[in-house]
Amino acid sequence: MIHTEMDEDILKVLISQEELQDCVRKMGEQISQDYQGKNLLMVSVLKGSVVFMADLMRAVSIPAQIDFMSVSSYGAGVKSSGVVKIIKDLDQQLEGKDLLIVEDILDSGMTLSYLSDILKARRPNSIRIATLLDKPERRTANIQADYFGFQVPDAFVVGYGLDYNEKYRNLPYIGILKPQVYAK
Ligand code: IMP
Ligand code: MG
Repeated sequence: MIHTEMDEDILKVLISQEELQDCVRKMGEQISQDYQGKNLLMVSVLKGSVVFMADLMRAVSIPAQIDFMSVSSYGAGVKSSGVVKIIKDLDQQLEGKDLLIVEDILDSGMTLSYLSDILKARRPNSIRIATLLDKPERRTANIQADYFGFQVPDAFVVGYGLDYNEKYRNLPYIGILKPQVYAK
């Protein structure tokens, strides 16, 4: 499918639809093995991870629950402000749950580091992180993903849920945004 108007703002396609599908399927298989007999609760961090979450949950073959959480760290810009605020909390208690936080991208790690600390305090059985993308070069917080799809270079990427100013989330691939788009 062609998304001409949005495609024009993309410098380079980094990860194709097929590569994404393949990776998510494998990750789902791994998670299904690792969480056999456990009480899996997948928590998607809105809004960037919704597309990944929707695909990943269908690649998981064991019983699983889902929930959503919304935090803000970026505002409208491209750099982390370091300020993380809970906009929407989980609907349920975490005792007895094996929590898997589902994220779109681990960048500075500030968001996830803060989030996992507050969720740990609610005493789940276990807590792990699944991120589609990892930008290790940019890490400032001491945090790692237990499952990750792709390492990406230090460039601003969009698509497959990831946005710039709320745009490009519906692109089916991951691409590098042309710098002139956010320089405007
Ligand atoms: P962190 O706190 O710096 O790890 O930021 C994580 C969040 O920043 C992600 O969940 C994204 O919403 C956003 N983010 C970081 N890098 C990018 C990017 O390259 N494109 C789009 N969003 C990004
Ligand atoms: Mg996000």
